[in-house]
Amino acid sequence: MNFNNDSVSNKNQQANYKIAGQSISAPQLSKNDREWQNGYGTRSDGQDTNSQNKPTRKITKTAKSLIIYFSRSGSTELLASKIANQTNPDILEIVVKDPYAGNYQKTLSRANSERENQDYPELNMQVPDLKQYDTIYLGYPIWAMTLSHPMTAFLKTYGGRLTDKIIAPFMTEGGYGQGDSVQRVREIIREQGGERDTFTKALVVDGNKVDQADKRVTQWVSQVHADNN
Ligand SMILES: Cc1cc2nc3c(=O)[nH]c(=O)nc-3n(C[C@H](O)[C@H](O)[C@H](O)COP(=O)(O)O)c2cc1C
Repeated sequence: MNFNNDSVSNKNQQANYKIAGQSISAPQLSKNDREWQNGYGTRSDGQDTNSQNKPTRKITKTAKSLIIYFSRSGSTELLASKIANQTNPDILEIVVKDPYAGNYQKTLSRANSERENQDYPELNMQVPDLKQYDTIYLGYPIWAMTLSHPMTAFLKTYGGRLTDKIIAPFMTEGGYGQGDSVQRVREIIREQGGERDTFTKALVVDGNKVDQADKRVTQWVSQVHADNN
């Protein structure tokens, strides 16, 4: 048997990716940079990672840190799972009422129109009281060099609850970097009445390379812990 075959080994690996016990699918991980084309054309399952799963939700009474994330095509979800493996936090997936299309062009048109009209998606999720958490890991894909809209909508609704926290931003992107996303996170939290937050350095990973990011995740998580103490 040839274990060096890329697609076979990638499939095998993907079968093992889990977040809070549920499988993660991110087919773009098998793509090299030429095929990836900065994420252009990436399909999703049409349910923002949840066609086979329930939205990720692990809320305990004791955890001191919480990962809040949105992912359309699975890369950010995989990055969230790698952070979770290191620090055992609670986890809350952002869910919109009307999921983004599997088709990339349709998603792009919708996202462009939402941005032009500042008309961000309606959420469909219960958000617990966030008082018990010291650290909030905020995860999102980059869209149009800024924050993707489900995270914008989340912060515009619940940003006021993120007061006096360590905020640790993490994201995946097509290769063009974090844009102004962290600045937007700060602005929106402040607009919503959140204050006295400390921001850590952001973790930024190309969406087709999250499977190779373990070392960076470990370093970043220990830096976040160091900042926290
Ligand atoms: C609507 C849309 C806009 C995007 N805009 C950018 C961009 O401006 N810069 C970039 O580097 N990647 C961009 N991307 C690529 C995504 O950031 C990248 O594929 C990311 O890993 C997707 O994460 P996910 O699988 O968790 O949804 C865009 C993707 C979509 C769907």
